[in-house]
Amino acid sequence: MTGKFALAAAVVLGMAPGMIGGAQAQAVDPIQTRQVGLSLLAGTFSGVRAVVAANGDVKTLENAGKAIQRFGVLMPSLFPAGSDKGTTKALPAIWSDAAGFKKASMALAAGGEALAVAAKAGDAAAVGVAVKAIGDACGACHKDFRAK
Ligand code: HEC
Repeated sequence: MTGKFALAAAVVLGMAPGMIGGAQAQAVDPIQTRQVGLSLLAGTFSGVRAVVAANGDVKTLENAGKAIQRFGVLMPSLFPAGSDKGTTKALPAIWSDAAGFKKASMALAAGGEALAVAAKAGDAAAVGVAVKAIGDACGACHKDFRAK
């Protein structure tokens, strides 16, 4: 394959360009990935709260709920062993109390799922309850697992 074709093929196959020619795959940086994810989570959640505060159309919040649910499920995998070093606010308790961290992640996931269900049903009251649960999940996890 020519270099250009190999690159195009790699892109189509969803491979990182670094994998071409047998080179090691460029590893994803877990710290930056989770921090970006958490920033996007925060932005999404702000948008959800703004819709609720404005008595907007809660049916538009279903995808936000689904994404929050999935992100919660993924959270533990974004903190692999060894990713405690570097520019991170992750506290050692994430690894020493992995069960507790998983539980805190699942609380976020449950809140997201409740939001998706309530949004789909157009149930503004239930959306409000889910938003409160999500906010509580953020705060509880930060208290135990994130440095100030
Ligand atoms: C299960 C634990 C957990 C939950 C739930 C959680 N967070 Fe966090 N959050 C963390 C940890 C740990 C960090 C620090 C990550 C790092 O620096 O590596 C963090 C970092 C952040 C950051 C900073 C990201 C950056 O750019 O460095 C924001 C913003 C944030 N969280 C918002 C939220 C919001 C909003 C929610 C709820 C919708 C939430 N988090 C739920 C654990 C959690």
